[in-house]
Amino acid sequence: MSRDEELAQLIREIGACNRCGLAAGRTHTVPGEGAVPSGVMFIGEGPGAREDELGRPFVGRSGALLDRLIQEEFGFDRRSCYIANVVKCRPPGNRDPADDEVSACSGYLARQLELVDPQVVVLLGRIAASRLLERRDPLKELRGRRFEIGGRRYIPTYHPAAALRGGASVVTEMRVDFARAHLVMLGAG
Ligand code: URA
Repeated sequence: MSRDEELAQLIREIGACNRCGLAAGRTHTVPGEGAVPSGVMFIGEGPGAREDELGRPFVGRSGALLDRLIQEEFGFDRRSCYIANVVKCRPPGNRDPADDEVSACSGYLARQLELVDPQVVVLLGRIAASRLLERRDPLKELRGRRFEIGGRRYIPTYHPAAALRGGASVVTEMRVDFARAHLVMLGAG
């Protein structure tokens, strides 16, 4: 099977998933989208209301900021990278995904990582950073640092929604982290 076929099969599997309680409340699954393979993969927390409505990741206000930072710091648009979330169905009221929900979804994300095979993974926010790095340190202490786990490079940073709440200084810190991730993607960071 080609990589594209494998990904298409994975996305069908996610579409039919009933492994956790989030399935009951969803309008659409939000498996992720983008280029495969890709030099960079972004991982958020889970779909919000707009994403649940459309079945696509980061299409609300956070997505607009993410798109802008990708364009300005990587120099390409979202279609040239891959964007996914830790959980593929919307947690009610945008609460944090629970442990069993993250575990139920973790195999999907692991397969996406294998198929996309990025040079660098940008972890957007506390949930993605703590789950993928298996660290409980505050995000402030993790952000912008390069982690290498299982031969893969990760750069945690803020979630775009936190940057929208936190204002210009947080956006600037995210920009710095994206620029670092771009260098890592190029093999120079
Ligand atoms: N927030 C996320 O973590 N993921 C999305 O897809 C949208 C908002």
